[in-house]
Amino acid sequence: MEIAFPPTFLWAAATAAHQVEGGNVYNDNWVLEHAPGGPYAEPSGDACDQYHRYRDDIALLADLGFTMYRFSLEWSRIEPEEGAFSLAALDHYRRVLAACHEHGITPMVTFHHFTSPRWLAAAGGWEDAATPEKFARFCERAAAHLGDLIPLACTLNEVNLGPLLTAIGVEELRAFRTAPWYAAAARAVESSPARFTPFLYADAARGRATILAAHRRAVDAIKSGPGDCAVGLTLAMQDIQAGPGGEETAVRMRRDLQDVYLEATRGDDFIGVQTYSRERFGPDGPLGPAEGVERTQMHYEFWPEALEATIRYASAATSLPVIVTENGVATDDDTRRGAYVERALRGVAACLRDGVDVRGYTYWSALDNFEWALGYRPTFGLIAVDRRTQRRTVKPSARWLGRVARANGF
Ligand code: BGC
Repeated sequence: MEIAFPPTFLWAAATAAHQVEGGNVYNDNWVLEHAPGGPYAEPSGDACDQYHRYRDDIALLADLGFTMYRFSLEWSRIEPEEGAFSLAALDHYRRVLAACHEHGITPMVTFHHFTSPRWLAAAGGWEDAATPEKFARFCERAAAHLGDLIPLACTLNEVNLGPLLTAIGVEELRAFRTAPWYAAAARAVESSPARFTPFLYADAARGRATILAAHRRAVDAIKSGPGDCAVGLTLAMQDIQAGPGGEETAVRMRRDLQDVYLEATRGDDFIGVQTYSRERFGPDGPLGPAEGVERTQMHYEFWPEALEATIRYASAATSLPVIVTENGVATDDDTRRGAYVERALRGVAACLRDGVDVRGYTYWSALDNFEWALGYRPTFGLIAVDRRTQRRTVKPSARWLGRVARANGF
């Protein structure tokens, strides 16, 4: 074997509740997806129906060789109206956790992966000073019910994604807030465009304050439950590079998009690194993909080397153990997925050789699923899903990564 990983290294695949469970009228994304004239390519519909098929999906991941499954709780199912908690929904996630343990899979639970209850977003959401307390109350309830089965938890997914998307000009999310479709979505939840604030639509400064306060409170809330749970947050990290004349901009971008969030992990048990590509900055902003570099279905560069750079960056900034909580590629050519993962893993191995404390690697995503505004077109999955029959088909890259997991190297 050319590359061997530490004996306790975790090999995972990830999903997020809304992306695989599909819509439910209680969450804010459902409202956005259905606003007339909005930017969503299609609504989530039944997604992969994982709400009912979780047992088979978990068994399949275990059979393939994976040792960890990262998934998220859907807050809006657990607390569909403010203060009204559903024991049935909590029991559902207890069964999901039990299925992981039965199959020898370590569950990693994300308590918030972009979607929120519509009542929360309607009341000011991720710009509102009362939100951290509401999130902590949810985390406390969920941890009290589920904590004994949760060894690893992420409070919030990609706490910096809103500002990152704006900085790289992928989507002017803030500009959406003045669009007629956004006003229609706000009206649908009896709110106003100024007040209705889903996670990714928050103003950078107000959003950051709310989100980081929510994280801090959530760490304590989750730890108050039974069990002994390691808790952290996850960051959307790109390898931020300077193009010609872009050194100062790159430093500023690293500071605003990464450093301030990395500093906020003090007291956490790990840092979750999520990396897909690099971003180069010139003096006036993002330079976009370089000429001649392969692109993914997401239009950004196929750049697996970004993972090594961001692991090193996060580790140096925090001195915390690193868990790669997402890394992957959207492609319809599965051989390119295999090539991407192999190159990314070589980077992880190089970090480990240099003594960087990396505890696990998570591929995004276990299944082809609902890629937010882009709908079902980008295919990140290790496992394909026929959404008419819900039949799962394992791709060769999944078998390869599963073999790597079993051998703990390649
Ligand atoms: C998110 C996922 C998303 C993935 C691929 C990450 O930003 O956590 O929800 O599907 O990237 O774009």
